[in-house]
Amino acid sequence: MALPPEAYLWFKFLHIIGVVVWFAGLFYLVRLFIYHVEAKELEGEVQEAFLKQYSLMEKRLANIITTPGMILTVSMAIGLLTLQPSLLYQGWMQIKLFFVLLLILYHIYCYRLMNSLANENCKWTGGQLRALNELPTLFLVIVVMLVVFKNNFPTSSATWLVIGLVVFMALSIQLYARHRRLRNS
Ligand code: HEM
Repeated sequence: MALPPEAYLWFKFLHIIGVVVWFAGLFYLVRLFIYHVEAKELEGEVQEAFLKQYSLMEKRLANIITTPGMILTVSMAIGLLTLQPSLLYQGWMQIKLFFVLLLILYHIYCYRLMNSLANENCKWTGGQLRALNELPTLFLVIVVMLVVFKNNFPTSSATWLVIGLVVFMALSIQLYARHRRLRNS
């Protein structure tokens, strides 16, 4: 069965929706891990109730939002590449696929963290998890720059300004969170 001419655009539309859902899920999931770890400072039944609730929220978020977002992104990407296989030979696409692979490994690692939190043997601290949560931001910036600029990836001062701003914002968020934790402890 021949696909209509606009099929490529439908795949791309759903691919971008998938990306938004996937990233929303990844960002919120690790934020829940941070709350989960910090709930261990509570005591008794309150702690037990919070830990149970966070585990439930994490499982639902991962299985109902994050993983379906990833599946939609990847399956629509396969549709795009099937209709336009020559893209696979382009340098920017190969670099993009490398970063997407790292992102998928990150996704899988989040599942491992979720299970270790549920089994109460997670060794990560809130501060470390906050730093970990910056990783998908980096992948997002690199991948979106690759799809926008393709083989003309800019190396001008504007690029370094954008990257510098992203790093500055990430560091400021980390430092502010650390300052708030120290003030409250
Ligand atoms: C299995 C992984 C992926 C593959 C194989 C893939 C492949 C593709 C392909 C073939 C296109 C169409 C390119 C064009 O028409 O010029 C595309 C578009 C796009 N992809 Fe992906 N992609 C993947 C994952 C991602 C991820 C993780 C992100 C975001 C972080 C992303 C963001 C985008 C965006 C924003 C576009 C629209 C670009 C445009 O048309 O201007 N993709 N992708």
